[in-house]
Amino acid sequence: MPRSTVLPGLLILAGVLAGGPPAPAQPLPTPPPVSAGAARTLNDPIFPGLGQLGLDVRHYDVALTVAEPGTPELSGAVTLTLVATRPLAEVRLDFFGPTVTAVRWNGQAAPFRMEPDTQKLVVTPPAPLLPGQEARLTVEYQGTPGVILDPDFSTPLRLGWQAVPAGEGGAGANFTLSEPQGTHTFLPTNDHPSDKATFTTRVTVPPGFTAAASGLEGAVVEGSGTRTFVFTQAEPIPTYALAVHVNRFERVTAPPVPVGANGAPVVRRDYFPVGTPDSTRSAYALTDEMLRVLSGWFGPYPFGAYGVAVVTPPLPALETATLSTMPVRSSNERVAVHELAHQWFGDAVTPATWADVWLNEGFATYAELLWTEAQGGDGQAVAAHWYAILAQGGTRSLVATQAGQLFDRSAYQRGALALHALRAAVGDAAFRAFLHAYTARFSGKALTTADLLAFAHAQVGGAGEAALRTWVESPGLPPLPVPSH
Ligand code: TRP
Ligand code: ZN
Repeated sequence: MPRSTVLPGLLILAGVLAGGPPAPAQPLPTPPPVSAGAARTLNDPIFPGLGQLGLDVRHYDVALTVAEPGTPELSGAVTLTLVATRPLAEVRLDFFGPTVTAVRWNGQAAPFRMEPDTQKLVVTPPAPLLPGQEARLTVEYQGTPGVILDPDFSTPLRLGWQAVPAGEGGAGANFTLSEPQGTHTFLPTNDHPSDKATFTTRVTVPPGFTAAASGLEGAVVEGSGTRTFVFTQAEPIPTYALAVHVNRFERVTAPPVPVGANGAPVVRRDYFPVGTPDSTRSAYALTDEMLRVLSGWFGPYPFGAYGVAVVTPPLPALETATLSTMPVRSSNERVAVHELAHQWFGDAVTPATWADVWLNEGFATYAELLWTEAQGGDGQAVAAHWYAILAQGGTRSLVATQAGQLFDRSAYQRGALALHALRAAVGDAAFRAFLHAYTARFSGKALTTADLLAFAHAQVGGAGEAALRTWVESPGLPPLPVPSH
């Protein structure tokens, strides 16, 4: 998917360093010069090693086989449909997964090597990929995923492919939990939110197990002693938002909810591990109502399906696309509405860099206040509570400068209060119109905080933008906003 035009300075600088000419308007008779040493990442301000400059992955066709659920063992074959936005002599995918057994470029075997210290799989195409050219890159692999520990939480969290051993009533399960950079433990990817893509995900499991993944479910293919489940994620999502689950699941469906674009039906399905108690399931009884309330504020629901997959380990919940990953211990209304809101803010409208992740967490946290109000509760009391947390614990301006800030209180509560300030400045009707316009403008794309401020200026004018900007930029804590509505 096309990247937003972010970080023009960095892109230009990297272009100079790479020594390559800008993309030619006309195809050249001979390939432009490409130096093998010109490899450049996407220069993310928080994770500078991720991604490849000039690479645009459009689609991932993923086939995973989980022969023994509950063990980390995995085999995979993925075909990436990719285009170059600048000449690429090598394709450098993020990958820290099982052992690569084969690589093909447009169907032909291609040379490759692993760079463990950069977590890159480097593939050399037969000829440099030129701007605008499309190629299919296939990678096959088998073995044990790598271990990437999350640098953003105080308690170490293993990112990416998870294995829950059999025992304690469970039958053995696997699932993904990848934000920000765990997807490349089980899939070779351009693992950066600015390069969103569509996915086809096929998961082969033993009899008795059910696979679930982001997107709409297709046919289940019965093999000899296996079952293959197929899912189509037709709208582009960031790589970290891809869900894959294997478990002994009960798949619970409900009638579609007409909250998509122009009232299109949104498929409803939830996956509960067999034996999930009602006290856990009841957290999801109000999902249809949440879809109606949030789409009223945010605009049409951006995907073809929504539901949750419940997991047993005590991990944080994650907004995996169309299928939030919900630990038993986080199965409550507040977290449920938070992860649902991320389908708009994070999965459909995506930060262009990890420094901008408050664009996810602030909006999803604000949904908790909107839901409280929709249920007849006191939204201003929620805002005052957040304010007290920040007043006590300290705060910062919203664009993150280090990994430890990505999911801190400022990203969540201050980010939410920034929206409360915008609402207080412009009123409910203009705030709602702004949110609808924002999701319409940026769904399927990635944006920076500066893009948000410019868009706010155009939509609601200088006063609204100034209210938002104060909360984005000031180092201290601005006064608590009080909307009149
Ligand atoms: N985005 C998650 C939320 O607020 C939080 C989160 C960040 C997370 N990184 C994670 C959850 C890694 C699980 C794994 O909803
Ligand atoms: Zn969140």
